[in-house]
Amino acid sequence: MNSTKTYRSRISGTGSYLPEKVLTNHDLEKMVDTSHEWIMERTGIYARHIAADGEVTSDLSLKASQRALEAAGLTAQDVDMILVATASPDQPMPNTACILQHKLGARTCMSLDISAACSGFVYGLVVADQFVRTGAYKHVLVVGAEVLHPYVNYKERDTCILFGDAAGAVVLSRAEEDQDSEIYSFFLQGDGAIGDLFVLPAGGSALPFSKEVLENGQHYVRMKGREIFKHAVRTMSECCHEVLRAHNMPPSEVSWVIPHQANVRIIEAVAKHFGISMDKVVVEIEDMGNTSAATVVVALDKAVRDGRIQRGQNLLLTAFGAGITSGAILMRY
Ligand code: ACO
Repeated sequence: MNSTKTYRSRISGTGSYLPEKVLTNHDLEKMVDTSHEWIMERTGIYARHIAADGEVTSDLSLKASQRALEAAGLTAQDVDMILVATASPDQPMPNTACILQHKLGARTCMSLDISAACSGFVYGLVVADQFVRTGAYKHVLVVGAEVLHPYVNYKERDTCILFGDAAGAVVLSRAEEDQDSEIYSFFLQGDGAIGDLFVLPAGGSALPFSKEVLENGQHYVRMKGREIFKHAVRTMSECCHEVLRAHNMPPSEVSWVIPHQANVRIIEAVAKHFGISMDKVVVEIEDMGNTSAATVVVALDKAVRDGRIQRGQNLLLTAFGAGITSGAILMRY
Protein backbone atom coordinates (compact mmCIF):
# COMPACT_ATOMS: atom_id res chain seq x y z
CA MET A 1 0.00 0.00 0.00
CA ASN A 2 1.38 3.41 -1.02
CA SER A 3 0.87 5.67 2.01
CA THR A 4 0.87 8.99 0.14
CA LYS A 5 -1.39 8.22 -2.80
CA THR A 6 -5.15 8.47 -2.29
CA TYR A 7 -7.95 7.08 -4.40
CA ARG A 8 -11.52 8.02 -5.28
CA SER A 9 -14.38 5.67 -4.49
CA ARG A 10 -17.24 4.72 -6.77
CA ILE A 11 -20.45 2.82 -6.20
CA SER A 12 -19.87 -0.07 -8.59
CA GLY A 13 -23.12 -1.93 -7.88
CA THR A 14 -26.35 -1.65 -5.90
CA GLY A 15 -28.96 -4.17 -4.80
CA SER A 16 -31.96 -4.45 -2.53
CA TYR A 17 -34.44 -6.93 -1.20
CA LEU A 18 -37.91 -6.51 0.30
CA PRO A 19 -39.58 -9.51 1.97
CA GLU A 20 -42.67 -10.92 0.25
CA LYS A 21 -45.24 -10.37 2.98
CA VAL A 22 -46.91 -6.95 2.85
CA LEU A 23 -48.80 -5.14 5.60
CA THR A 24 -51.04 -2.39 4.19
CA ASN A 25 -52.86 0.47 5.86
CA HIS A 26 -56.07 -1.49 5.41
CA ASP A 27 -54.55 -4.40 7.34
CA LEU A 28 -53.54 -1.98 10.12
CA GLU A 29 -57.07 -0.55 10.25
CA LYS A 30 -58.13 -3.99 11.52
CA MET A 31 -55.39 -4.06 14.17
CA VAL A 32 -55.42 -0.56 15.76
CA ASP A 33 -57.61 2.53 15.86
CA THR A 34 -56.34 4.22 12.68
CA SER A 35 -57.35 4.86 9.09
CA HIS A 36 -55.72 4.60 5.68
CA GLU A 37 -56.45 8.30 5.11
CA TRP A 38 -54.76 9.38 8.37
CA ILE A 39 -51.65 7.33 7.70
CA MET A 40 -51.34 8.50 4.08
CA GLU A 41 -51.86 12.14 4.97
CA ARG A 42 -49.49 12.16 7.97
CA THR A 43 -46.73 9.87 6.67
CA GLY A 44 -47.13 9.06 2.95
CA ILE A 45 -46.90 5.33 3.78
CA TYR A 46 -49.28 2.75 2.30
CA ALA A 47 -47.47 -0.57 2.75
CA ARG A 48 -44.57 -2.14 4.63
CA HIS A 49 -42.84 -5.45 3.97
CA ILE A 50 -42.53 -7.90 6.86
CA ALA A 51 -39.92 -10.67 6.98
CA ALA A 52 -41.25 -14.22 7.14
CA ASP A 53 -40.80 -16.32 10.30
CA GLY A 54 -37.18 -17.40 10.40
CA GLU A 55 -36.11 -14.80 7.82
CA VAL A 56 -33.47 -12.76 9.64
CA THR A 57 -31.45 -9.62 8.96
CA SER A 58 -28.49 -11.53 7.49
CA ASP A 59 -30.87 -13.32 5.06
CA LEU A 60 -32.22 -10.02 3.74
CA SER A 61 -28.64 -8.70 3.63
CA LEU A 62 -27.51 -11.73 1.65
CA LYS A 63 -30.09 -11.23 -1.10
CA ALA A 64 -29.37 -7.50 -1.39
CA SER A 65 -25.59 -8.14 -1.39
CA GLN A 66 -25.79 -10.80 -4.10
CA ARG A 67 -27.71 -8.35 -6.29
CA ALA A 68 -25.20 -5.57 -5.63
CA LEU A 69 -22.23 -7.83 -6.42
CA GLU A 70 -23.90 -9.02 -9.61
CA ALA A 71 -24.56 -5.41 -10.67
CA ALA A 72 -20.89 -4.61 -9.98
CA GLY A 73 -19.71 -7.59 -12.02
CA LEU A 74 -17.93 -8.97 -8.94
CA THR A 75 -18.10 -12.11 -6.84
CA ALA A 76 -18.08 -12.56 -3.07
CA GLN A 77 -14.39 -13.45 -3.34
CA ASP A 78 -13.63 -9.88 -4.47
CA VAL A 79 -14.97 -8.34 -1.25
CA ASP A 80 -12.26 -6.89 1.02
CA MET A 81 -14.49 -5.68 3.86
CA ILE A 82 -18.14 -6.04 4.92
CA LEU A 83 -20.05 -3.39 6.82
CA VAL A 84 -23.62 -4.06 7.93
CA ALA A 85 -25.54 -1.06 9.23
CA THR A 86 -28.38 -2.31 11.38
CA ALA A 87 -30.34 -1.63 14.53
CA SER A 88 -31.81 -5.12 14.39
CA PRO A 89 -28.90 -7.57 14.14
CA ASP A 90 -29.59 -11.32 13.99
CA GLN A 91 -28.38 -11.42 17.62
CA PRO A 92 -25.99 -9.35 19.81
CA MET A 93 -23.08 -11.74 19.10
CA PRO A 94 -21.69 -12.66 16.63
CA ASN A 95 -22.22 -9.56 14.56
CA THR A 96 -24.42 -9.72 11.46
CA ALA A 97 -21.50 -8.81 9.17
CA CYS A 98 -19.67 -12.03 10.13
CA ILE A 99 -22.83 -14.07 9.61
CA LEU A 100 -23.25 -12.42 6.21
CA GLN A 101 -19.58 -13.05 5.33
CA HIS A 102 -20.14 -16.76 5.90
CA LYS A 103 -23.51 -16.96 4.09
CA LEU A 104 -22.08 -15.02 1.16
CA GLY A 105 -19.01 -17.25 0.91
CA ALA A 106 -16.71 -14.24 1.13
CA ARG A 107 -13.10 -14.42 2.28
CA THR A 108 -12.39 -14.06 6.01
CA CYS A 109 -12.30 -10.29 5.69
CA MET A 110 -12.86 -7.46 8.17
CA SER A 111 -16.58 -7.68 9.00
CA LEU A 112 -18.17 -5.01 11.13
CA ASP A 113 -21.66 -3.92 12.17
CA ILE A 114 -22.42 -0.21 12.25
CA SER A 115 -24.84 0.88 14.97
CA ALA A 116 -26.23 4.29 14.08
CA ALA A 117 -29.92 3.39 13.62
CA CYS A 118 -31.45 5.04 10.54
CA SER A 119 -28.22 6.94 9.76
CA GLY A 120 -26.32 3.64 9.70
CA PHE A 121 -25.97 3.27 5.94
CA VAL A 122 -24.74 6.85 5.51
CA TYR A 123 -22.26 6.31 8.37
CA GLY A 124 -21.19 3.00 6.81
CA LEU A 125 -20.60 4.48 3.38
CA VAL A 126 -18.35 7.14 4.91
CA VAL A 127 -16.38 4.48 6.82
CA ALA A 128 -16.00 2.43 3.64
CA ASP A 129 -14.83 5.48 1.72
CA GLN A 130 -11.96 6.00 4.16
CA PHE A 131 -10.63 2.48 3.51
CA VAL A 132 -10.96 2.84 -0.27
CA ARG A 133 -9.46 6.34 -0.21
CA THR A 134 -6.30 5.18 1.56
CA GLY A 135 -5.89 2.21 -0.77
CA ALA A 136 -6.32 -0.28 2.06
CA TYR A 137 -9.26 -1.98 0.34
CA LYS A 138 -10.52 -2.09 -3.23
CA HIS A 139 -14.09 -3.36 -2.84
CA VAL A 140 -16.16 -2.79 0.28
CA LEU A 141 -19.66 -4.21 0.68
CA VAL A 142 -21.87 -1.78 2.58
CA VAL A 143 -25.28 -3.07 3.65
CA GLY A 144 -28.22 -1.35 5.36
CA ALA A 145 -30.61 -4.01 6.67
CA GLU A 146 -33.37 -4.32 9.21
CA VAL A 147 -35.89 -6.81 10.50
CA LEU A 148 -37.68 -4.34 12.74
CA HIS A 149 -41.07 -5.94 13.17
CA PRO A 150 -40.15 -7.89 16.37
CA TYR A 151 -39.44 -4.51 18.05
CA VAL A 152 -42.75 -2.95 17.05
CA ASN A 153 -45.83 -3.16 19.25
CA TYR A 154 -48.69 -3.79 16.84
CA LYS A 155 -51.10 -2.52 19.48
CA GLU A 156 -49.58 1.00 19.46
CA ARG A 157 -50.89 3.04 16.57
CA ASP A 158 -48.24 5.77 16.69
CA THR A 159 -45.35 3.40 15.93
CA CYS A 160 -46.79 0.33 14.17
CA ILE A 161 -47.88 2.33 11.13
CA LEU A 162 -44.33 3.43 10.39
CA PHE A 163 -41.89 0.55 10.23
CA GLY A 164 -41.02 -2.22 7.77
CA ASP A 165 -38.27 -4.73 7.00
CA ALA A 166 -35.81 -4.43 4.09
CA ALA A 167 -32.19 -4.58 3.02
CA GLY A 168 -30.09 -2.72 0.52
CA ALA A 169 -26.42 -2.99 -0.40
CA VAL A 170 -23.76 -1.24 -2.41
CA VAL A 171 -20.28 -2.23 -3.43
CA LEU A 172 -17.99 0.75 -2.94
CA SER A 173 -14.96 0.23 -5.17
CA ARG A 174 -11.78 2.06 -6.03
CA ALA A 175 -12.54 4.22 -9.10
CA GLU A 176 -10.37 3.69 -12.17
CA GLU A 177 -8.47 6.67 -13.61
CA ASP A 178 -11.05 7.16 -16.39
CA GLN A 179 -14.06 7.05 -14.03
CA ASP A 180 -14.99 10.41 -12.53
CA SER A 181 -17.05 9.12 -9.58
CA GLU A 182 -16.08 10.51 -6.18
CA ILE A 183 -17.37 11.12 -2.68
CA TYR A 184 -16.91 14.89 -2.53
CA SER A 185 -17.78 15.58 1.08
CA PHE A 186 -19.51 14.13 4.11
CA PHE A 187 -20.82 15.37 7.44
CA LEU A 188 -21.84 13.12 10.32
CA GLN A 189 -23.01 13.94 13.81
CA GLY A 190 -24.40 12.31 16.94
CA ASP A 191 -26.24 14.13 19.71
CA GLY A 192 -26.84 11.98 22.78
CA ALA A 193 -28.48 14.83 24.68
CA ILE A 194 -31.70 14.16 22.76
CA GLY A 195 -31.25 10.40 22.70
CA ASP A 196 -34.49 9.83 24.58
CA LEU A 197 -36.56 10.78 21.52
CA PHE A 198 -36.32 7.30 20.07
CA VAL A 199 -35.34 4.30 22.20
CA LEU A 200 -35.47 0.55 22.46
CA PRO A 201 -35.13 0.33 26.26
CA ALA A 202 -34.42 -3.36 26.88
CA GLY A 203 -31.98 -6.00 25.75
CA GLY A 204 -28.72 -4.30 26.74
CA SER A 205 -26.70 -4.01 29.94
CA ALA A 206 -28.97 -1.21 31.21
CA LEU A 207 -32.07 -3.37 31.12
CA PRO A 208 -31.46 -7.05 30.41
CA PHE A 209 -34.42 -9.16 29.35
CA SER A 210 -36.68 -10.34 32.15
CA LYS A 211 -40.27 -11.27 32.72
CA GLU A 212 -40.94 -7.65 33.80
CA VAL A 213 -39.40 -6.28 30.62
CA LEU A 214 -41.81 -8.33 28.54
CA GLU A 215 -44.80 -7.44 30.74
CA ASN A 216 -43.96 -3.72 30.49
CA GLY A 217 -43.36 -3.87 26.74
CA GLN A 218 -39.82 -2.49 27.13
CA HIS A 219 -38.65 -4.68 24.26
CA TYR A 220 -40.58 -2.44 21.87
CA VAL A 221 -39.42 0.86 20.32
CA ARG A 222 -40.69 4.05 21.91
CA MET A 223 -40.62 7.48 20.36
CA LYS A 224 -41.67 11.09 20.73
CA GLY A 225 -42.97 11.44 17.17
CA ARG A 226 -43.61 15.17 17.02
CA GLU A 227 -40.20 16.01 18.55
CA ILE A 228 -38.38 13.61 16.23
CA PHE A 229 -40.10 15.21 13.27
CA LYS A 230 -38.72 18.63 14.22
CA HIS A 231 -35.17 17.40 14.85
CA ALA A 232 -35.20 15.27 11.69
CA VAL A 233 -35.86 18.31 9.53
CA ARG A 234 -33.29 20.37 11.43
CA THR A 235 -30.46 17.82 11.47
CA MET A 236 -30.84 16.64 7.86
CA SER A 237 -30.98 20.27 6.69
CA GLU A 238 -27.82 21.07 8.72
CA CYS A 239 -25.95 18.05 7.34
CA CYS A 240 -26.93 18.82 3.74
CA HIS A 241 -25.91 22.43 4.21
CA GLU A 242 -22.48 21.35 5.53
CA VAL A 243 -21.67 18.95 2.65
CA LEU A 244 -22.76 21.46 0.00
CA ARG A 245 -20.75 24.22 1.67
CA ALA A 246 -17.66 21.98 1.98
CA HIS A 247 -17.70 21.32 -1.77
CA ASN A 248 -18.94 24.81 -2.66
CA MET A 249 -21.87 23.36 -4.61
CA PRO A 250 -25.23 25.18 -4.87
CA PRO A 251 -28.35 23.03 -4.31
CA SER A 252 -29.31 23.66 -7.96
CA GLU A 253 -26.40 21.41 -9.04
CA VAL A 254 -27.69 18.41 -7.09
CA SER A 255 -29.25 15.90 -9.51
CA TRP A 256 -30.92 13.73 -6.86
CA VAL A 257 -31.49 13.91 -3.12
CA ILE A 258 -31.84 10.47 -1.52
CA PRO A 259 -33.11 11.09 2.01
CA HIS A 260 -34.00 8.78 4.87
CA GLN A 261 -37.57 7.68 4.25
CA ALA A 262 -39.28 8.17 7.62
CA ASN A 263 -42.17 10.45 6.72
CA VAL A 264 -42.89 12.16 3.40
CA ARG A 265 -43.60 15.43 5.19
CA ILE A 266 -40.09 15.41 6.72
CA ILE A 267 -38.64 14.86 3.24
CA GLU A 268 -40.73 17.68 1.76
CA ALA A 269 -39.64 20.07 4.51
CA VAL A 270 -35.93 19.34 3.89
CA ALA A 271 -36.33 19.76 0.12
CA LYS A 272 -38.20 23.04 0.64
CA HIS A 273 -35.41 24.31 2.92
CA PHE A 274 -32.98 24.02 -0.01
CA GLY A 275 -35.41 25.12 -2.72
CA ILE A 276 -35.03 21.67 -4.30
CA SER A 277 -38.08 20.52 -6.23
CA MET A 278 -39.63 17.21 -5.12
CA ASP A 279 -39.12 15.75 -8.60
CA LYS A 280 -35.38 15.73 -7.80
CA VAL A 281 -35.95 13.74 -4.58
CA VAL A 282 -36.08 9.95 -4.55
CA VAL A 283 -39.18 9.03 -2.52
CA GLU A 284 -39.90 5.33 -2.07
CA ILE A 285 -41.70 5.48 1.25
CA GLU A 286 -45.21 4.61 0.05
CA ASP A 287 -44.48 0.94 -0.56
CA MET A 288 -41.93 0.24 2.19
CA GLY A 289 -42.40 2.60 5.14
CA ASN A 290 -39.49 3.41 7.45
CA THR A 291 -36.94 0.59 7.18
CA SER A 292 -34.33 2.43 9.28
CA ALA A 293 -30.77 1.77 8.02
CA ALA A 294 -32.15 0.29 4.79
CA THR A 295 -34.19 3.24 3.52
CA VAL A 296 -31.49 5.30 1.80
CA VAL A 297 -29.77 2.36 0.14
CA VAL A 298 -33.01 0.72 -1.03
CA ALA A 299 -34.20 4.05 -2.48
CA LEU A 300 -30.79 4.47 -4.15
CA ASP A 301 -30.97 1.00 -5.67
CA LYS A 302 -34.51 1.51 -6.98
CA ALA A 303 -33.57 4.81 -8.63
CA VAL A 304 -30.40 3.31 -10.17
CA ARG A 305 -32.28 0.30 -11.52
CA ASP A 306 -35.18 2.28 -13.03
CA GLY A 307 -32.76 4.70 -14.70
CA ARG A 308 -33.51 7.85 -12.73
CA ILE A 309 -29.94 7.94 -11.41
CA GLN A 310 -27.29 8.07 -14.12
CA ARG A 311 -23.48 8.09 -14.05
CA GLY A 312 -22.00 11.57 -13.71
CA GLN A 313 -24.90 12.93 -11.64
CA ASN A 314 -24.45 14.62 -8.27
CA LEU A 315 -26.18 12.77 -5.44
CA LEU A 316 -26.98 14.09 -1.98
CA LEU A 317 -27.67 11.33 0.57
CA THR A 318 -28.96 12.28 4.00
CA ALA A 319 -30.34 10.51 7.06
CA PHE A 320 -31.16 10.86 10.75
CA GLY A 321 -31.98 8.26 13.35
CA ALA A 322 -31.95 7.20 16.96
CA GLY A 323 -28.99 8.56 18.86
CA ILE A 324 -29.83 11.15 17.61
CA THR A 325 -27.49 10.45 14.69
CA SER A 326 -27.55 12.29 11.39
CA GLY A 327 -25.43 12.71 8.32
CA ALA A 328 -25.10 13.60 4.66
CA ILE A 329 -22.86 12.63 1.75
CA LEU A 330 -22.34 14.57 -1.46
CA MET A 331 -21.03 12.43 -4.30
CA ARG A 332 -20.64 12.14 -8.03
CA TYR A 333 -22.24 8.84 -9.01
N1 ACO B 1 -53.98 6.91 13.49
C1 ACO B 1 -54.83 7.88 13.86
N2 ACO B 1 -54.50 8.82 14.76
C2 ACO B 1 -53.28 8.77 15.29
C3 ACO B 1 -52.35 7.79 14.95
C4 ACO B 1 -52.73 6.83 14.02
N3 ACO B 1 -51.92 5.84 13.60
N4 ACO B 1 -51.21 8.02 15.64
C5 ACO B 1 -51.39 9.10 16.38
N5 ACO B 1 -52.67 9.57 16.19
C6 ACO B 1 -53.31 10.73 16.80
C7 ACO B 1 -52.64 11.19 18.06
O1 ACO B 1 -53.09 10.45 19.18
C8 ACO B 1 -53.06 12.65 18.12
O2 ACO B 1 -54.36 12.72 18.64
P1 ACO B 1 -54.79 13.94 19.62
O3 ACO B 1 -54.59 15.18 18.79
O4 ACO B 1 -56.19 13.62 19.94
O5 ACO B 1 -53.83 13.88 20.78
C9 ACO B 1 -53.13 13.07 16.67
O6 ACO B 1 -53.20 11.84 15.91
C10 ACO B 1 -51.94 13.88 16.20
O7 ACO B 1 -50.78 13.22 16.67
P2 ACO B 1 -49.34 13.78 16.34
O8 ACO B 1 -48.34 12.90 17.03
O9 ACO B 1 -49.27 15.26 16.58
O10 ACO B 1 -49.30 13.56 14.76
P3 ACO B 1 -48.17 13.95 13.76
O11 ACO B 1 -48.72 14.79 12.69
O12 ACO B 1 -46.93 14.44 14.46
O13 ACO B 1 -47.82 12.54 13.09
C11 ACO B 1 -46.14 10.87 13.24
C12 ACO B 1 -47.36 11.49 13.92
C13 ACO B 1 -46.59 10.28 11.93
C14 ACO B 1 -45.61 9.78 14.15
C15 ACO B 1 -45.07 11.97 13.00
O14 ACO B 1 -44.87 12.73 14.15
C16 ACO B 1 -43.76 11.40 12.55
O15 ACO B 1 -43.63 10.79 11.51
N6 ACO B 1 -42.68 11.62 13.35
C17 ACO B 1 -41.39 11.09 13.05
C18 ACO B 1 -41.35 9.65 13.47
C19 ACO B 1 -40.09 8.96 13.06
O16 ACO B 1 -39.49 9.29 12.07
N7 ACO B 1 -39.70 7.97 13.87
C20 ACO B 1 -38.52 7.24 13.66
C21 ACO B 1 -37.34 8.09 13.87
S1 ACO B 1 -35.85 7.32 14.13
C22 ACO B 1 -35.82 6.22 12.96
O17 ACO B 1 -36.14 6.51 11.83
C23 ACO B 1 -35.51 4.83 13.42
